[in-house]
Amino acid sequence: GSDKQVNIRGNSYDTDEWTNTPDSILSHIGRLLYLDENHPLAITRRLIEGQFPGPVYGNHVEKYPVVSTAQNFDVLGFPVDHPGRSRTDTYYINKNTVLRTHTSAHQQTYFRRLDSLTNGQSIEQGYTVTADVYRRDAIDRSHYPIFHQMEGAKLWRRPSTDPLQYSSETAATIWADVASLPVNDVVVEDLNPTIHAERNPLQARYHSPEEVEAIAAHLKRSLERMVDKIFKEARKAVSGASDAEQKPLKVRWVEAYFPFTSPSWELEIFWQGDWLEVLGCGVIKQELLINSDVPDRVGWAFGIGIERMAMLLFNIPDIRLFWSQDDRFLSQFTAGEITRFEPFSKHPACYKDVAFWLNSSASSGGSAAGGAMPFHENDVMEIVRDVAGDLVEDVKLVDEFTHPNTGRKSLCYRVNYRSLERTLTNKETNDLHNRVREKLVERAGVELR
Ligand code: PHE
Repeated sequence: GSDKQVNIRGNSYDTDEWTNTPDSILSHIGRLLYLDENHPLAITRRLIEGQFPGPVYGNHVEKYPVVSTAQNFDVLGFPVDHPGRSRTDTYYINKNTVLRTHTSAHQQTYFRRLDSLTNGQSIEQGYTVTADVYRRDAIDRSHYPIFHQMEGAKLWRRPSTDPLQYSSETAATIWADVASLPVNDVVVEDLNPTIHAERNPLQARYHSPEEVEAIAAHLKRSLERMVDKIFKEARKAVSGASDAEQKPLKVRWVEAYFPFTSPSWELEIFWQGDWLEVLGCGVIKQELLINSDVPDRVGWAFGIGIERMAMLLFNIPDIRLFWSQDDRFLSQFTAGEITRFEPFSKHPACYKDVAFWLNSSASSGGSAAGGAMPFHENDVMEIVRDVAGDLVEDVKLVDEFTHPNTGRKSLCYRVNYRSLERTLTNKETNDLHNRVREKLVERAGVELR
């Protein structure tokens, strides 16, 4: 380790060779945009929560984003070599501490809490939890290193902790709940069987097929209804058309993989000509429930991207806008209302290229921060973010080749400098770009061309 410390909202953490969280990220912690009731992220949160109401569901938020690697990965069954654990993808505070990459980091806490509530007076059987999450990722109009998710889960108690012993009774209980869900007229494409031996396996030690069919039906219908209700509101706001006049929403279920659910799916919505993924979900792995002291429960969980939903609902074209403090943005939204975002004047784009050779060391071993890490595109993204922050709209790889004689690899990235709020001067973009070039040499160990 090192003796340097990082301070996050009054808590002090030791840094070490895993630390890779820059000040530009740390400075965003505590904005809590999703609590600002007139902000589109808060309006969207409320709309989704409204589809998972009490007393069955408790609606919660988790304001503090620092969690252990155990919470974020181990407890959820992420294998040690899962790419999500890599320093190129995740912000580490130190070896055992990260900025959560998903709200699932809180699953175990909420499963435990659920049990204590149910043993007491409450009849809560599920929850939603909203939080800011952090990922090192590409820069473009739909990716930002900080975004927001809502996790939801619903559990049913089995008459016994004995796997499978009362599975028909449990399935019957769940089917009764499915039957009580209000119908919706969303058009659903769901081509694959619920259970597939390789692609979407049954946890055969713990679950019977009939139980999983029932849980999956409840999960899918609950989420279909949620998107149906919310998008009906949105289209009413846009066109003034009543429910009866609207064409039904089209969605589809796609098989997926998550380390902590099986079977698993993603839900995609057909919106303005494209299929858009909005959430991941599945039947909670029983090992996780056993390890969370609720071995006698079975159930489902989902995780939805709030920006994704908000961009669709409010027609917001660029994810950076959510962080805008500009009144021309903020004044367009009011708690409880879905309004159509009117873009304010778009300022000109300024494209600048940077081309470099990967050093033999950078492409095969040493790299940023002296760790034994190969070159990774996310390091370029991080450098650009560090230097220019929200003044960059996107960064794209535009050329790549390997020298026929030396075998060295060359990359060229195109950085699009554009502010949402003003026109950047030539001097300003040149200065930014020069600093990006310098840092690429210093921190990524490349050789500029
Ligand atoms: N945590 C997952 C993600 O961020 C989403 C998810 C949540 C999937 C709950 C299944 C169950 O991609």
